[in-house]
Amino acid sequence: MFKKSSPASVATAMAHPNIAFIKYWGNRDDELRLPANGSISMNLEGLTTRTTVRFDPKLKNDTLILNKKLQGGNALQRVSAFMDIVRQKANLKLFAEIVTENNFPAGSGLASSAAAFAALSLAATKAAGLNLSRQELSALARRGSGSACRSIPAGFVEWLPGSEDEDSYAISIAPPNHWELVDCIAVVETDHKSVGSTEGHRLAATSPIQAARVEDAPRRLDICRRAILQKDFDTLAQIVELDSNLMHAVMMTSSPPLFYWNPLSIDLMKRVQSWRNEGLPVCYTLDAGPNVHILCLNEALSELKFRLHQIPAIEQILICRPGGPATLLE
Ligand code: DP6
Repeated sequence: MFKKSSPASVATAMAHPNIAFIKYWGNRDDELRLPANGSISMNLEGLTTRTTVRFDPKLKNDTLILNKKLQGGNALQRVSAFMDIVRQKANLKLFAEIVTENNFPAGSGLASSAAAFAALSLAATKAAGLNLSRQELSALARRGSGSACRSIPAGFVEWLPGSEDEDSYAISIAPPNHWELVDCIAVVETDHKSVGSTEGHRLAATSPIQAARVEDAPRRLDICRRAILQKDFDTLAQIVELDSNLMHAVMMTSSPPLFYWNPLSIDLMKRVQSWRNEGLPVCYTLDAGPNVHILCLNEALSELKFRLHQIPAIEQILICRPGGPATLLE
C-alpha cells in the first residue's frame, strides 16, 4: 500500500546509473516492463543524475529541462507518461516542472535512463506527498525504465523478475564497500546513433536464441550472485563475459539484427581476455552501445589505466567504483 504524507510539492533526488553483470534484455510484458529474466548490476559512483520535481497549479503541461535545455518530443512524452503513473498513485491532478542534470561528460554516450528514472521516481513521489518503501520505489522506477529499478538500492543489486507489477523490483545483495571492484569505462564512440533499448527489448523474442538465453538465466544469476558474495573475481569474469556475449548474440540474431559493437569494441574485448590470461584481474561487458565496460579489482586499476592510455583510439576513460542508493537531497 502507498502511504500518503503531507504534500511537499517540491523535492530533489539523485541517483547513479548502473552496469549490468547479468543483463536485462527482453520483456514478458513491455507495457509494465516485466523482464524476461532477472538481472544483477553494480551502481556507478561518480556518475550522477540530480532531479528536482515541482508540482505547480499554474502549469498546463509537464515541462522537462535536461542539462539546462527545454525538452519536447519523445523525451518529454516518456517522462510525462511516467508522471501520469505518479499522479494516479497520489490522486493528484497537477502538472510538474522537472529539472534534471547529469554530471556525465557531455557526449560520452552514457546518458542513462536508469539514473534518470530512479532519481525522478524518488523526487516525484516525495513532491507528490507519497512515502514509498524502497521496494515500491524500485517497482515504480521500473515502469520508467527497466534498469532504473536497479539504481534505487545500494551497491551490488539484483532485480527479482517477479510475476506482476508489485513483485518485480530490485534489492541490494551487498553494500558498495563489500568489494573493491572498479568499472573502467572505455568510451570508444561519442555520437553513435543506435536503436534504443526500449525498441531492442521488443525485438529480443524474434531471435531464435533468446529462449535459450532466458532459460539459462537462473544458473548465470546464481553463479554471479555467489561470485560477488564470495569476492571470486575469476568466476565473476567468466560469467559476466558469457552473459554479455549471449545478450549481444541475441541482438545480432534479432529481426532486424542489431549490431552495437564497433571494431574498437572487439579489439578491446580481445585485449581484455588476453590480459586476464596473463594474470591481470579484468573482464569486459557491453550494453546497447559500443563502449566497453572493463571491470577490474582495485589492485589492477593503475596497470589497466596504463594499458588503456596506450590505445589512442579510446576517446575517454571513466573510473567508477560501487555506488550508493538513490537519495533524497534536502
Ligand atoms: C543493455 O533499462 O535501458 O543496458 O526499460 O526500455 O528503458 P528500457 O530499457 P533499459 O535496458 C537496459 C538494457 C541493457 C542491459 C541492462 O542494463 O541490464
